[in-house]
Amino acid sequence: MQRHYDEVAEVYDRHYATDRGRIYYDHVCDLVLDDLPRGGLLLDLGCGTGLFMVRYCASGGDAVGLDISRGMIARARQRCPACTVSVGTAEQLPFRDATFDAVASILAFSYLQRPEAMLAESFRVLKPGGTIAVCTLGRNLLTALVPVIYRVGEKVRARRVGMADFGEHYYRTGEIAALFASIGFVDVGVRRCSFAHQDLHDPVFAIARKVEPFVEERLPHLAYNLCVSAKKPD
Ligand SMILES: C[S@@+](CC[C@H](N)C(=O)[O-])C[C@H]1O[C@@H](n2cnc3c(N)ncnc32)[C@H](O)[C@@H]1O
Repeated sequence: MQRHYDEVAEVYDRHYATDRGRIYYDHVCDLVLDDLPRGGLLLDLGCGTGLFMVRYCASGGDAVGLDISRGMIARARQRCPACTVSVGTAEQLPFRDATFDAVASILAFSYLQRPEAMLAESFRVLKPGGTIAVCTLGRNLLTALVPVIYRVGEKVRARRVGMADFGEHYYRTGEIAALFASIGFVDVGVRRCSFAHQDLHDPVFAIARKVEPFVEERLPHLAYNLCVSAKKPD
């Protein structure tokens, strides 16, 4: 995982630099931003190249980033010189208790081998009343096909961002809510999001994007990401 992201760090941003990539990623970020308090100090776990941190800082806050990949952290350092970023695992945080107003994690939670450790550590470093907001891969009929796509990708030797099997976990709604609650988080809310994927061809993407609000509202089992928000009790 670490090696993969070191290798793709230079091209990672291109993934979201296309129109479709930007629309997909903006949508995810907007949903997570909606769940976070404005201003204050944010910890972004699995911050990658800092794409979410710059958005959070633009909305008036300060951000600290942590990622297991040196390559990704090097890019994040260039992108957000005002942010403190470091290499490390989200499962063991090098920060004092009650340091942050908020913790976020965008499209990284499913890759964690010990998600409960990340949540316990997030709980520890959050101030009382602090917020955690995570967007990660959800389990549905479409994501059940991902292992097949990986196998095809391996056959044609596709070396692309995200085209590798890291044994990531696709969460069910109830499962992830129970995980957050088991750590002591309260006001746990989970909603499904994302129907238009940036890898779809333009015309299909345009249609998927058009129906995305309807899918998220009325047919959420067809959406493939999960947004979770919760609070550390006061
Ligand atoms: C799909 S990328 C998402 C990056 C970034 N959050 C974004 O929105 O662009 C997943 C990231 O999770 C990081 N990651 C995976 N396991 C991690 C761990 N245990 N601790 C910290 N970062 C991790 C990877 O290095 C990679 O940068």
